[in-house]
Amino acid sequence: MSKDNFTSKLGIVAATAGSAIGLGNLWGFPYKAGTNGGGTFVIIYILCALFIGLPVMLAEFVVGREGRGGPVGAVENLTNSKKSPFVLGGYMAVLTSFLVLSFYSVIAGWAIHYLVTGLTNGFSGVANIDTAKYFEVSSNNLGMQLVYQDIFIFLTATIVIFGIKNGIERLSKIMMPLLFIIILILVGYNMTLPGFKDSLSFLFAPKSIPADKTFFEILTSALGQAFFSLSLGMGAIITYARAVSDDMNINTISIQVIVCDLIVALLAGLATFPIIFSYGMSTGGGVGLAFIALPVGFKSMPFGYVFGNLFFFLLIIAALTSSISLLENSLTFIIEKMKFNRKMATIVLSALLMAFATLSQLGFNYSSSLLSFTGGETFLDQLDKLTMNYFIPIVALITTLLVGYRLDESIVRKQINNDKISNIFIPYVKYVVPVLIGIVLLSGVIG
Ligand code: TRP
Repeated sequence: MSKDNFTSKLGIVAATAGSAIGLGNLWGFPYKAGTNGGGTFVIIYILCALFIGLPVMLAEFVVGREGRGGPVGAVENLTNSKKSPFVLGGYMAVLTSFLVLSFYSVIAGWAIHYLVTGLTNGFSGVANIDTAKYFEVSSNNLGMQLVYQDIFIFLTATIVIFGIKNGIERLSKIMMPLLFIIILILVGYNMTLPGFKDSLSFLFAPKSIPADKTFFEILTSALGQAFFSLSLGMGAIITYARAVSDDMNINTISIQVIVCDLIVALLAGLATFPIIFSYGMSTGGGVGLAFIALPVGFKSMPFGYVFGNLFFFLLIIAALTSSISLLENSLTFIIEKMKFNRKMATIVLSALLMAFATLSQLGFNYSSSLLSFTGGETFLDQLDKLTMNYFIPIVALITTLLVGYRLDESIVRKQINNDKISNIFIPYVKYVVPVLIGIVLLSGVIG
């Protein structure tokens, strides 16, 4: 496995940015900005990404490249133990990535369904106001959604089976530039819409906190979103870092990935809100923003056929470069622990995933009450909250404690390979980052 490394820095940045840029940016960011009051959320989000996300990403790179293994294996190698609380964090990371991938596949399945519907002109029969109904009816169509979900899992597995160099790196180097081009086309078009100006001030001007939210709720949501969007807190960066050669500069890689991720999130806002404002829809559309509100705009606007299909195609490729990273994460675990070969491990894992993702689908169907433990929320929503609000910050916290307190300082310095950065990073990751994550985690639990 050690031979299957990334071949170039561009490849690493493309794959890691590919992992980071996904449904979280294109679908999650706009809807969260929309429900959390726009500009204020966006500013807090950017601060979270830079001041908490960046050091956590760097910490994951240190762990993965030094430990040369997946989230569990790397930590075992570094701590010479199979049972330390740090290793437990590794197990939690693998579990989290599996859970996330399961509901990710459901949402990506919706995107495939929308692209197919759009290409075959299937939206033309749906009245404008009825897109909500359309979404409900189609997400309730279990058989059809299982097919789309499994197509997505199959695509993911097909790439991952080829490994890092020939599968993941190669695909990312093609898909990422394509993704940037498509989103720029969409934003370019949106600049011609009457709602573009309003979108700018909605997204970038600080506003007072919405009446139904507290500051801490917005903070928790922004940090959760920043971690999720940067693929942190589930060992995914550790898994990619194990295939990064020692002469690559992980500081610049981390910064480049974060900047790309931020840019795409903001562009996604600009690809979404002008349509929302131009057609008089609500910014607080929540999870339905992309699947219920946007189709109304696409139906009404000139060339909506082209831009609507481009939008859902964009969602699919962004989801795919993220899902391969999620799958690779659990896969590395199975290969390391159960000594399966890559092909076998991919097949077994994909089958498990198809089965587990079905639970989220069932949540939209007859068994909704069966799988709703919190009352009223779907199984998918519960998985989303559980991972986003608890598992991911806990794993991120454990990783920073590992790097701050358990690893030798000399190792961290060797990995960072820059004295100035190390002098800031080491005390920062020891004393500041865990406290910040702790506060947000606690406020989430209490709030
Ligand atoms: N970052 C991805 C997105 O924004 C989602 C994600 C979260 C992810 N954790 C991950 C992707 C781990 C790959 C690996 O949509």
